[in-house]
Amino acid sequence: MKTYLVTGATSGIGEATALQLIQEGHTVLAIGRNETKGHELETNGQGRLFFFQVDLAVPSEIERFFETTKEDFPTIDGIFNNAGTFGKPVAPERVTDQQTEVFQVNYHAPEQIIQHAVKRLSRGASIVNNSAIVGHVKFPAMLLPYASSKSALLTLTKTYAARFHGKYRFNAICPGPVDTKLSHSLYGGKEKFDLAMKHHLRGHAAHPSEIAEVVCFLLSDKASYINGQTLIVDGGYTLT
Ligand SMILES: NC(=O)c1ccc[n+]([C@@H]2O[C@H](COP(=O)([O-])OP(=O)(O)OC[C@H]3O[C@@H](n4cnc5c(N)ncnc54)[C@H](OP(=O)(O)O)[C@@H]3O)[C@@H](O)[C@H]2O)c1
Repeated sequence: MKTYLVTGATSGIGEATALQLIQEGHTVLAIGRNETKGHELETNGQGRLFFFQVDLAVPSEIERFFETTKEDFPTIDGIFNNAGTFGKPVAPERVTDQQTEVFQVNYHAPEQIIQHAVKRLSRGASIVNNSAIVGHVKFPAMLLPYASSKSALLTLTKTYAARFHGKYRFNAICPGPVDTKLSHSLYGGKEKFDLAMKHHLRGHAAHPSEIAEVVCFLLSDKASYINGQTLIVDGGYTLT
């Protein structure tokens, strides 16, 4: 059984992944900000899920997480860099320094996590970065920092994969629309989101568990020869 780090484990895709990993018998270090939800997950986590309140927008909190966990969890077998934010939608020509938080959470936090974790990774460890279908569809102009940060994450994934020659594997997933709080917020609520998804090739968005299944596969040794890839998981959305 392995030990995995999952960021954004308190909701949506990250929660579904954390739950699947503990069902498979693994230990999960679950990162998020929502303490109530984190403790709820711990209670239901069969003694194998450990919640850590970390704001990924604050680099010193990431450092503190690695410092406080190094004795109890000296070895990490995989990471799902999943937490993400849209930031405040804004016209591209009005993007300001405030948008640096989007890059901090979506790009720099995964980068820092990998840098800290690398000393503790077991041979063959798998890192999965959650990107998006950037580059395959036109993204809303108001989400330029989000789209750019997710594109940068793909470059980071390939760069690290090439650097470590398979000693550790690095892959990214690019989900299409998923039925989560994040996407509801973009569409102005779940009802509007569901309505918009009628135009999806499949007529609906993915359930978070459908993405989690792919992530758990990539994290596992079953995917031992998959490295440096960006996998679109979108039910055919990018075909249309
Ligand atoms: N939903 C989609 O359609 C879709 C499509 C493609 C890619 N994605 C990507 O999937 C990832 C997960 O999103 P989701 O759809 O599952 O959304 P979600 O249900 O809203 O979950 C977002 C998670 O990210 C965490 N998070 C956000 N900012 C954080 C911060 N500063 N520090 C620590 N944790 C933070 C949240 O934690 P707290 O709630 O505890 O703050 C939450 O657990 C994101 O990276 C997103 O870009 C989503």
